[in-house]
Amino acid sequence: MQARGPLMIEHRLIERMLSIIKNVLGKIESEHEVDPVFVDIAVDFIRIYADRTHHGKEEDILFRELNKKTLTSEDRQIMEELIEEHVFGRQTTKSIVEANTRYRNGDKTALTDITANLKTLTEFYPRHIEKEDKVFFPSSRIYFTDEEDQAMLAEFWEFDRKMIHEKYKTLVEGFEGR
Ligand SMILES: [Fe+2]
Ligand SMILES: [Fe+2]
Repeated sequence: MQARGPLMIEHRLIERMLSIIKNVLGKIESEHEVDPVFVDIAVDFIRIYADRTHHGKEEDILFRELNKKTLTSEDRQIMEELIEEHVFGRQTTKSIVEANTRYRNGDKTALTDITANLKTLTEFYPRHIEKEDKVFFPSSRIYFTDEEDQAMLAEFWEFDRKMIHEKYKTLVEGFEGR
């Protein structure tokens, strides 16, 4: 498997989650309410899976290795766009968390903010994935030898191995108030 393999497999699961969010958005529109626990779970998926685990491998390993290469100005520009889009995803998720807290505390107007930001994610994220799958991953593969690509793949597995421990250590430390 090439290094981009796990990233593309992760894209498929993110797409499936986005389509679940889209279905829930339809339900919110007809019922004018949302289950805040669903929003918590969607946020957990986005933060831990899509951002920490998936973007983590892209930014901390793939992009780090690409930074050691001389990229064409076009590839460099796309990489910068991808990083900005990750930041935008984080900001949007933060807005969802804030709106969900307001909603839980009885502010029904927060529903508009929850839906608007969830909708933003479902619209922007598939384009981000497409840019990576169809444009950036194929063009960035050219900078690496097969050995370098396999070394990144090995580092991806090691990165993933640590994730479950990181998630639950953070959870326990959160309860301990650290
Ligand atoms: Fe990305
Ligand atoms: Fe990605």
